[in-house]
Amino acid sequence: FLSKRIVVLPGDGIGPEVCGEAVRVLKAVAERFGHHFTFDYRLMGACAIDATGCPLPDATLEACHQADAVLLGAIGDPKYDHDPTAKVRPEQGLLALRKSLGLYANIRPVTAYEQLLDFSPLRPDRIAGTDLLIFRELTGGVYFGEKGRTADGTAYDNCTYHPEEIERIAHRAFRAAQGRRQKLTLVDKANVLETSRLWREVIQSIAPEYPEVAVDYLFVDNAAMQLILNPRQFDVILTENMFGDILSDEASVIAGSLGLLPSASVGDGAALFEPIHGSYPQAKGKGIANPIAAILSAAMMLDHFGLPEEARAVRDAVENALNDQVLTPELNNSTAYTTEQVGSFIAYGVLDLMECHLH
Ligand code: IPM
Ligand code: MN
Repeated sequence: FLSKRIVVLPGDGIGPEVCGEAVRVLKAVAERFGHHFTFDYRLMGACAIDATGCPLPDATLEACHQADAVLLGAIGDPKYDHDPTAKVRPEQGLLALRKSLGLYANIRPVTAYEQLLDFSPLRPDRIAGTDLLIFRELTGGVYFGEKGRTADGTAYDNCTYHPEEIERIAHRAFRAAQGRRQKLTLVDKANVLETSRLWREVIQSIAPEYPEVAVDYLFVDNAAMQLILNPRQFDVILTENMFGDILSDEASVIAGSLGLLPSASVGDGAALFEPIHGSYPQAKGKGIANPIAAILSAAMMLDHFGLPEEARAVRDAVENALNDQVLTPELNNSTAYTTEQVGSFIAYGVLDLMECHLH
């Protein structure tokens, strides 16, 4: 039986609501399997700016460094989005946290659930069977390059990559492909960008170490099209920070809702688990946010702890929620359940108490 310290960063908007359900499910896992999880709640994002003036307070960062894992809800607030001159922004907290924890690989699985095929705006026959994994580089590229303004008012954001920054995530992506359908697609813009040409060079030099993995290369504009034209062609997609950010939101349309996509961010030390969606401020407090992305992020955390049976119990309970159409309104308005009802259904499922709950 394991004892784990989990730092929870609920964040802003719907973050606290979806995190609450993920914690409920983790508590159910602890109860069912006899583990001991502690939850240490900390501030990050706009809520941290409001309380302390800083998006990532030292106490939060310190706690994250000491944790076995971090669970994050979402961050962001429209008052900063609408003020481009704001010097302190919630996103700075998340980026600084990723950098400080060395979370260079962000893993975003995308699955077309059989039960939800009709809820995607894409044709079911196109998306059925999609099962892909996006490896998004998370601590480099244009997000972290030098940025600023010059005297004449020009703004700049530099995009830089060192070969080692590419190698370390590439090895992880190749290993993931080895354990799946042995296909890796590098997405870049090597016809234009020098950094992309470096990505290709590095991938080509590493590829011989993984002879069973078939590698192909796509320009990002083409990849954006292929992703909705024929998503089944993809197994592991490896790409730089910003392309991965954009393509993973696009890929969520295949799953039927952004509210379904989890992610794990890993590196050399602590790991962080967060839904890929944002803080969805319009939905805050309404009980309509889909907690499944956060709950599946918790399942990825369990895998990371080396608890595959526990992770499977969570995923099975999520599947049951999909089977029984226990869904939030963005997926099915006619049978809509609240955030808490969906979370409770899944937690009861983990405890094997489904019968008592809704029936
Ligand atoms: C994500 C988000 C973040 C990102 C924002 C909030 C900084 O969109 O995790 O995908 O761009 O990485
Ligand atoms: Mn994003």
